[in-house]
Amino acid sequence: MKQLYDRYDRLHNYVRISITDRCPLRCVYCMPKEGLPFFPSERVLSQDEIVQMVENFAEMGVSKVRFTGGEPLLRSDVAEIVQRVHEIPGIDDISATTNGLYLPRKAAALKEAGLQRLNISLDTFDAERYKKITRGGNIKQVLKGIQIASDLGFMIKLNVVVIKGQNDDEILDFLNYTRTHNVNIRFIEFMPIGNPLKTWQKEYVGLKSVFDVCAENGLAYDPIDLTGNGPSENFKIKDAVGSFGLIHPISNKFCETCNRLRITPDGYLKACLYWDEEINIRQAIPDKEEFQRLIQKALDSKPLNHEMAMADADKVVNKAPTWRHMSQIGG
Ligand code: GTP
Ligand code: 5AD
Ligand code: SF4
Repeated sequence: MKQLYDRYDRLHNYVRISITDRCPLRCVYCMPKEGLPFFPSERVLSQDEIVQMVENFAEMGVSKVRFTGGEPLLRSDVAEIVQRVHEIPGIDDISATTNGLYLPRKAAALKEAGLQRLNISLDTFDAERYKKITRGGNIKQVLKGIQIASDLGFMIKLNVVVIKGQNDDEILDFLNYTRTHNVNIRFIEFMPIGNPLKTWQKEYVGLKSVFDVCAENGLAYDPIDLTGNGPSENFKIKDAVGSFGLIHPISNKFCETCNRLRITPDGYLKACLYWDEEINIRQAIPDKEEFQRLIQKALDSKPLNHEMAMADADKVVNKAPTWRHMSQIGG
């Protein structure tokens, strides 16, 4: 079977598909305050296009699919998409990244359709802060969603983007949460995508601070292996039920093990999150050979590393990475 390698010999078997750019929230690290004009519906990939695209990818050795957004659960056909992708031979891991707001309504159907894992954004435990960070979200609804998904047996990871002055004083609370809850808390470094560089520089927190908090509070931890296809490095606090993970694209690049391709809601392939190059693969979906040629073309020019601002070295790369905001890529 054809497999997808780039020029640095990295095997690409994980595709992140953003199935909508829409979201009811406007998280401070993801969207501008005033929001974004959403794409008209005809600009967004249809259910058939998404399914056929995954069939093409499966024939190229891709076995892991993650649905992202915007908010993927906003699509009324999300469970149908999952179900059809679940039936594709070769696809063995189907997951979604969500804000969690629609889980009370949709988690059961998604589970039945074959969704295995959920990564849910929860940047704070405080209702007022949650409202501020998400610009209007109701934390109760997310906590209820997490509980329902957990009861249904989903493997759950909670995504915490650490932002100076907004939630960096809650690192210990999140660590302590893993002692009694069977979840993986992922601390994520704030990335300068779609945010003004100046604001980003002021708010970025390197994840070494998580180890500092552990040391200051006498928390012993060990590295662990955990199911996942992304860049998280995982640990478990001694005797904890859950675990924690670190995603540190800025302070400690993980590009050398990159296995990921991204599809935007409007059908463009991004070989790297932080890169302006993107290829329209939508028209090629019905033509497997052409589709394969375009994917390989993107991989042949995929960069070895991203060039995100290097906070530690105080070096800022001013090249605009992409015109897209995070919600138009899917993270
Ligand atoms: P699993 O490991 O399969 O659970 O998923 P994941 O961590 O890949 O998915 P998720 O959508 O939860 O992503 C978590 C964070 O990691 C988000 O902030 C993503 O933007 C970030 N991330 C994932 N892949 C990459 C990558 O290749 N480069 C960078 N810079 N960030 C990434
Ligand atoms: N930096 C880091 N992570 C981000 N996310 C969204 N915007 C950013 C950013 N600027 C994360 C959210 C979400 C995932 C898809 O991407 O935590 O869970
Ligand atoms: Fe919506 Fe997720 Fe972006 Fe927040 S991070 S605005 S929940 S897409």
